[in-house]
Amino acid sequence: MLAAWWFRLCLQVNQGPFGSELSLTLQVQKHLEPFRLSLEKLQDVSARLRKDMIRGLGKHSHHRASVKMLPTFVRATPDGTEKGDFLALDLGGTNFRVLHVRVLEEEQRVLKMDSQICAIPQDIMLGTGEKLFDHIAACLAEFLDSQKLRGQTLPLGFTFSFPCEQKEIDKSILIRWTKGFNCSGVEGEDVVNLLKEAIHRRGDYDISSVAMVNDTVGTMMSCGYRDQSCEIGMIIGTGTNACYMEEMKNVKRVEGEDGRMCINTEWGGFGDDGCLKDVLTEFDEEVDKTSINPGVHTFEKMISGMYLGEIVRLVLLKLTEEKLLFRGCPSEALLTPGSFETRFISEIEEPDSGLENAKKILTKLDLDWDLVDACVARLVCDTVSSRSARLCAAALATIVNRIRINRGLDHLKTTVGVDGTVYRKHPNFSDELQAAVRLLAPKCDVTFLISEDGSGKGAAMVTAVAHVGASGWGFACVLGCAC
Ligand code: GLC
Repeated sequence: MLAAWWFRLCLQVNQGPFGSELSLTLQVQKHLEPFRLSLEKLQDVSARLRKDMIRGLGKHSHHRASVKMLPTFVRATPDGTEKGDFLALDLGGTNFRVLHVRVLEEEQRVLKMDSQICAIPQDIMLGTGEKLFDHIAACLAEFLDSQKLRGQTLPLGFTFSFPCEQKEIDKSILIRWTKGFNCSGVEGEDVVNLLKEAIHRRGDYDISSVAMVNDTVGTMMSCGYRDQSCEIGMIIGTGTNACYMEEMKNVKRVEGEDGRMCINTEWGGFGDDGCLKDVLTEFDEEVDKTSINPGVHTFEKMISGMYLGEIVRLVLLKLTEEKLLFRGCPSEALLTPGSFETRFISEIEEPDSGLENAKKILTKLDLDWDLVDACVARLVCDTVSSRSARLCAAALATIVNRIRINRGLDHLKTTVGVDGTVYRKHPNFSDELQAAVRLLAPKCDVTFLISEDGSGKGAAMVTAVAHVGASGWGFACVLGCAC
């Protein structure tokens, strides 16, 4: 669509589409071609993911699966009877959030009483685990003071958005860091324990029970409180991932055949065994090579906010080297990794102000641009973000198709709780994703529900349910353990 628009623009700027601009268009398109995935290719990607999901669920195949399919011990979505006051911690990106949440049973509402954001500086993201958890415990202390909550020992929901092998609701072993974190001494350790130790080291406050959740689970749970047919949680932000309710009989690594359990797919790891080689472009390979975790989270690196800007930068650089952009002259900024922020993509693709934004951004990057350059930059952004949306759609379609077949249904109606800056902020990402899901899962009617303060409130929901079970208030117990 954008290509046609650019073609028209070439006409408008009076540069003649059949002369040099046409040949430029064709050359640019040639470089962008590997990003364009046909419906057949997406169906093929979906079929590969389906196989990997089965491998991840298997008792004996799990250890070699790149899609980990981690049991969460959440066995049902909320039923609206939960209540109480909770603290929630949310760690998963460059910011860390602390929330005070109140769940009101009578009104079936989750109220965010207050929240505070603390930055996680780069040296902490890459330092020791002890330093990271001391920082978290300090932020929590500050929040308790500001809320006058010190002295009350509230239950705490901890959204920790990294792949963890959950042993129990309050025991969760970090498998590996993703998304730019690399703190020493945490992989292979129980994260709840590390948090409790940091709080004990301070010795000036305490918490009662802790429930650990992935952000996908938090999102599903908080949306599930509003819409009880929500049984999938999806994140497209700094990272990407999804969870869904799987039949217990298919969760081979957990005892029991009855009912369902929420599975954290960790679909970001799809392709780590090399099965997406034909889909990866030279730019994806470069992004992976220069990341702090090469070979890890291949699928995520093609989709999520942490990497999209860098992919665009590498494409722009390549087109400049080929003398198709900026008269062949890159600026220092364009040559600097990380200089093209992912938010620029959304700004440049804005339907009304996009072209003006492109001009401002190219100027900020110190590039000597003309109108055609600005249009090409827009085309590159559109191509890279479209691929991201379509790949995500292929993965989501795999899940909804699986749920439908699991249940022996001819037609499935379901809701996905969604969160993440890419999904929320990009002007047409959600439309593209939804359109592709309709094509890839024609027998499923999928509603998308954006979560409000998703993972934080969701963590409180899981805690509420765990707490309810633990204290014997007699509400439905949704957790497979600790109740
Ligand atoms: C990364 C993490 C995953 C998380 C996702 C979204 O993929 O490994 O646990 O859910 O980012 O934040």
